[in-house]
Amino acid sequence: MRSSAHHKEIHAPQSLMLRRYFSALAVVLKSNNESPWTNEFDKIELSCLIESISTTNPRIEWKKITNEGPSYVYFDGKISGDLENRAMIREPATLLITNATRSDTAKYRCEVTASEDQKSVDEVVIDLVVRVKPVVPKCSVPKSVPFGKSAELSCVEEEGFPKSQYQWFKNREEIPDDPKSSLKFFNSSYTLNADSGTLKFIAVRKEDAGEYSCRAKNDAGYSECPPQKMEVYDIDVVGIILGVLVVVMVLVCMTAGICCAYKRGYFSGQKPTGNNYKVPAKGDGVDYVRTEDEGDFRHKSSFVI
Ligand SMILES: *[C@@H]1O[C@H](CO)[C@@H](O)[C@H](O)[C@H]1NC(C)=O
Ligand SMILES: *[C@@H]1O[C@H](CO)[C@@H](O)[C@H](O)[C@H]1NC(C)=O
Repeated sequence: MRSSAHHKEIHAPQSLMLRRYFSALAVVLKSNNESPWTNEFDKIELSCLIESISTTNPRIEWKKITNEGPSYVYFDGKISGDLENRAMIREPATLLITNATRSDTAKYRCEVTASEDQKSVDEVVIDLVVRVKPVVPKCSVPKSVPFGKSAELSCVEEEGFPKSQYQWFKNREEIPDDPKSSLKFFNSSYTLNADSGTLKFIAVRKEDAGEYSCRAKNDAGYSECPPQKMEVYDIDVVGIILGVLVVVMVLVCMTAGICCAYKRGYFSGQKPTGNNYKVPAKGDGVDYVRTEDEGDFRHKSSFVI
């Protein structure tokens, strides 16, 4: 076999011969998945395969590349850093993470150094994504909204990775992105933002009342908040309440008016007596004191002093 292959090469163009010669003395890596993903707490394989090598005992290293720079994951035959106890190497150079966490999302570089090869270094970069299932979103639904007014419902979830997308449900039925796309919601004035989780009504209708719930979802799964009731109060009820308020206010004004009138009348009736007490001058007072009895004297003196 080998001699016949060699025989063929003699007749091949020289460049091809050279390439084959060097590749025989080069370390070449490959991966069967350069962008793997897994869900949090699952296992994942970062594949690093040696396609060609001549060195018998190559140096194998793994580095994690984050914004802060590269750090060792596998060095000198040992798993290090925060993957310690959660990862192992599978021959020849594949890194196996047994319990992935969200902080493992990063690029990883497999580097193989083969000192006896002509081309003695090769590397392969693996882009790992650890997906995180959304937690129960925080939902805010106004309890009651006046007919014809605007309303905003919000839904927020921040654990999920990749970032959550949102769906809203009314009475357990999914609300379409565009109300015009459904007969049921055709006349509703809402806009739904699946990226931010807000459901905004420009003017609520009676038909918009119901139980609203929201779902945060991503590739790893979904979570929902429990349904919350939104009531729309009738414009007639508002009218009735306003009417009652007006009647009450009119009554209050009338009562106040009657009171005032009555008080004024009361004071004018008492005026003469009041004047009688205040009018007396010093000389007169003295006269009174002398001529009148004890009770009147006390009155007068208190005013004089
Ligand atoms: C993975 O790690 C999490 C937290 O670090 C732990 O709760 C869970 O039990 C682990 N799962 C396995 C299969 O070891
Ligand atoms: C929407 O409004 C139009 C006009 O007011 C009405 O004819 C139609 O029946 C309404 N559709 C629904 C589904 O309520």
